[in-house]
Amino acid sequence: MTAAATAMALSVTGGAAMAACDDGEIVIKFAHVTNTDKHPKGIAASLLQERVNEEMDGKACMEVFPNSTLYNDDQVLEAILQGDVQMAAPSLSKFEKFTKKYRIFDLPFMFKNIDAVDAFQTSETGQAMKESMTRRGLLGLEFWHNGMKQISANKPLMTPDDAKGLKFRVQTSDVLVAQMRALGASPQPMAFSEVYGALQTGVVDGQENTWSNIYGQKFFEVQDGITETNHGIIDYMVVTGVDWWDSLPDDVRDQLSTILREVTETRNAESAKVNQEAKQAIIDAGGEVRQLTDEQRQAWVDVMKPVWAEFEADVGAENIAAAQEFNE
Ligand code: LMR
Repeated sequence: MTAAATAMALSVTGGAAMAACDDGEIVIKFAHVTNTDKHPKGIAASLLQERVNEEMDGKACMEVFPNSTLYNDDQVLEAILQGDVQMAAPSLSKFEKFTKKYRIFDLPFMFKNIDAVDAFQTSETGQAMKESMTRRGLLGLEFWHNGMKQISANKPLMTPDDAKGLKFRVQTSDVLVAQMRALGASPQPMAFSEVYGALQTGVVDGQENTWSNIYGQKFFEVQDGITETNHGIIDYMVVTGVDWWDSLPDDVRDQLSTILREVTETRNAESAKVNQEAKQAIIDAGGEVRQLTDEQRQAWVDVMKPVWAEFEADVGAENIAAAQEFNE
């Protein structure tokens, strides 16, 4: 499919590409759950699609399905194994059924910023994690950044005590369930596409997410305010099926890997900026953003960090130590 044809397909579908692939092209369906605009993953997936369709024209064709239009994250990994989609980029919290190693990324206050996350992921320890699911049929290709998580509810959250007794939506991750229990709150695992409605109708009182997700899904409109805690991270693994990947002709696999690596480097370098822009967009739209003093933030650390001990055996004490080195 030519660049012009891709642009046309994108314009008629409002960014949810239903690119018609030419006969003989290898079709690569990429399903994800976020919006495409002002979002690190949405922008990266669109750029990947654009480059594959331009540079691999005649050989391969990528169709990106954003906004949970094809699958939510709980379904997409099975869909890859069934061969219904070829790529996805669920958050690292969504791989529990396939590996417990990624739990390190959900432990609260493990990384001080996205640079520390990047340094850990690009280290030997981090890179080895891409292969931790091959026995189960999945191969990690690249880490994609989103950013640091913030917390919000239908009332101001300044101290951990403020969260006590509230219901918080969490991603489907045992670490995040334990983190909310440590606060004395009630964790409610739920698909991303259902969160806005659940906040709006009071099924849950609060949530945690990155600025780009809080902006993109308009969570701020149905919350009292957002507290800037930077207490955790949301990052992604671009993932594929081992069988499909191995079935590709060598030249196609090499070119696709190169394009993906370049898109990863370009967009990961911009993820913090994209989140800062989303934060500003929330403020501009009248959303309330609350800052903590150092002392107030420390109170959240004191309550949440003991969760590490519960998961140390899953993630490895040596990996925790390695991650901590990148905070210095
Ligand atoms: C969530 O479920 O909150 C996130 O994993 C969504 C995403 O892909 O950023």
